[in-house]
Amino acid sequence: MNLLVCGGAGFIGSNFVRQMLQKYPDYKIVNYDKLTYAGNLDNLRDVEKNQNYIFVQGDICDLEKLNQVIKEHQITHVINFAAETHVDRSIHGGCKDFVMTNTLGVQMILDAVRANNIEKFVNVSTDEVYGALGLDEDRKFTEATPIWPNMPYAAAKAGGDLMCNAYFVTHKVPVVVTHCSNNYGPYQFPEKIIPFFIFRLINNQKVPVYGDGLYVRDWIHVTDHAAALDLLLHKGVAGEVYNIGVDNERSNMEVTKMMLKIMGKGEEMIEHVTDRPGHDRRYAIDASKILALGWQPKYSRDKFEQGLKETVEWYLANKEWVEKLQKRKEELNPHIK
Ligand SMILES: NC(=O)c1ccc[n+]([C@@H]2O[C@H](COP(=O)([O-])OP(=O)(O)OC[C@H]3O[C@@H](n4cnc5c(N)ncnc54)[C@H](O)[C@@H]3O)[C@@H](O)[C@H]2O)c1
Repeated sequence: MNLLVCGGAGFIGSNFVRQMLQKYPDYKIVNYDKLTYAGNLDNLRDVEKNQNYIFVQGDICDLEKLNQVIKEHQITHVINFAAETHVDRSIHGGCKDFVMTNTLGVQMILDAVRANNIEKFVNVSTDEVYGALGLDEDRKFTEATPIWPNMPYAAAKAGGDLMCNAYFVTHKVPVVVTHCSNNYGPYQFPEKIIPFFIFRLINNQKVPVYGDGLYVRDWIHVTDHAAALDLLLHKGVAGEVYNIGVDNERSNMEVTKMMLKIMGKGEEMIEHVTDRPGHDRRYAIDASKILALGWQPKYSRDKFEQGLKETVEWYLANKEWVEKLQKRKEELNPHIK
């Protein structure tokens, strides 16, 4: 496989690239990333000298460059992680970049996939495109749940997903779309809740919890997500959508208290802050379809505390990575005081 990974310098993309290089020593991997504020080549320092790994700086909205890279490296498969991903930025900072990358960018990749007879394209998307579930509902998102996003970030991702379906039906482009729940693990940019809280607690700062803290997310370890995507690149059926999640619903308050315990801090470090507008109450994933395909996640619900502990330990052990990002503070989270 000669694999083009779009957005491989971010959190999930870099974990995926590392996992694929380790597992498949005969695959060539081309990481194509624009290096926005969220792209970080330090995430892949340990593999950058691997002879099967190539980095190319580029924008997924640049069709000419995509075509050129695909031809030059005789790409057979494509996976897309490239996106604007921070919900708060899409609310407070304007959302044009979100629509450009998350919708138009996906359409550009679809054009490139179509023009170059790519064997399979996996478009990595999110459960947030489904909108929200109620706290007292017992249903979960299935692949048949209607797409009905509530936030600009999620709406822009949904635009990309709908383009994938349209290109499959109209042009027979072999595309698979995934809807995964919230990820945690190493190399996550510290504007997202788990590394953001770890960074603050390292500096003895309080952690801001939105509203009543009862927002429920379905947490998955990034390495399990990467393994699911590996499976779908090989066995996913073109034109299909797959949900990815490990049945691990937790409220933000529960996750916060677990982190405080792991880091030896008391609950006086919690600070309640004004709620985010359009805040979705609950996400929960029914992942039976991908489980039936043979996916075996390692961090199931009962291993969440262990996974979180390992994650905290990783950030504490990788001080240089953390310190470099702390120097870019103004970019980290301009919207939360
Ligand atoms: N983080 C999560 O919890 C989560 C959950 C479900 C799905 N997802 C999806 O997974 C994907 C990756 O998420 P992440 O958390 O790793 O994101 P991230 O913000 O950490 O990384 C995004 C990467 O995309 C690159 N990028 C942005 N715009 C680009 C462009 N126009 N052209 C090329 N590269 C560009 C950035 O430089 C960065 O390296 C996204 O599509 C996201 O919607 C994320």
